[in-house]
Amino acid sequence: MSGLDGDASCAVTRTGMMAAMDTARPTSFGAWADEYHRWRPSYPDAAVDWLVPPQGAQVVEIGAGTGKLTERLVERGVDLDVVEPDGRMLGLINQRHPQVRTHETGVSSLPLADASVDAAVVADAWHWFPKAEAAEEVGRVLRPHGWLGCVWNVPLPQDAWEWQALKLDPALQLATDLDPLDRLGLTTGQAEQRTFRWTWELTPQQWRGFVSTVSHVRLLPKDEREATLDETEQLVSRACSAVGATAVPLAHEALCVRWYPAR
Ligand SMILES: C[S@@+](CC[C@H](N)C(=O)[O-])C[C@H]1O[C@@H](n2cnc3c(N)ncnc32)[C@H](O)[C@@H]1O
Repeated sequence: MSGLDGDASCAVTRTGMMAAMDTARPTSFGAWADEYHRWRPSYPDAAVDWLVPPQGAQVVEIGAGTGKLTERLVERGVDLDVVEPDGRMLGLINQRHPQVRTHETGVSSLPLADASVDAAVVADAWHWFPKAEAAEEVGRVLRPHGWLGCVWNVPLPQDAWEWQALKLDPALQLATDLDPLDRLGLTTGQAEQRTFRWTWELTPQQWRGFVSTVSHVRLLPKDEREATLDETEQLVSRACSAVGATAVPLAHEALCVRWYPAR
């Protein structure tokens, strides 16, 4: 992931953008679970509609983190199991959704019976998984008609100041022409993809919070990090003043892939 992530085998990570908005290690999130939950965006309705089967369906969410997508799944009334290896993150899901069955484990050992779920869903996390192992385990628990649904929330900065405020390199543009199987880093089964544009209105403080969850900013020495975040806040304040608003939009794309294992 452009030096931010160790998994060069995943085509998604090679797009750079997702990597840059993510954190540096797959298990580094828990230490700042509260902040992550507070400042990261949720997923748009259209993407959730496309990825998730109807109310009452049996669904497992894998790599659920602090529950940004879990919230949406609970709202939809699916019968939900949640899998997350980091106990600190899972703790937040237990607090917020005590009715949900949670499992502190990873994708390689899903605590579910063979052919027991209609869908397995993964938000902003598939690129961390050991792909072949994950695909085999997901394939095992899916019912014959079932699918794996993955989503990545990708910011789409429009202006130079937005790239600067996000601390991202414009060279890290999202690859739009990738085959969906390649995106998942898989060679078997069938996959289809859709993208859903959405806009997030953020105040200068929210931009600051969001950028503070980006790996390469998060991992800076404290003084440097604060200076970086001050600059973000100032840039966004200036943009707000220019249009006489308290918040400015940040375009996003929810990139979604559905995968059906070979039967
Ligand atoms: C960027 S976070 C995304 C969290 C959440 N899904 C969201 O949308 O905010 C990636 C998550 O993947 C989890 N993860 C990393 N490796 C994993 C694995 N092998 N199996 C299951 N989850 C894993 C991490 O613990 C972390 O919670």
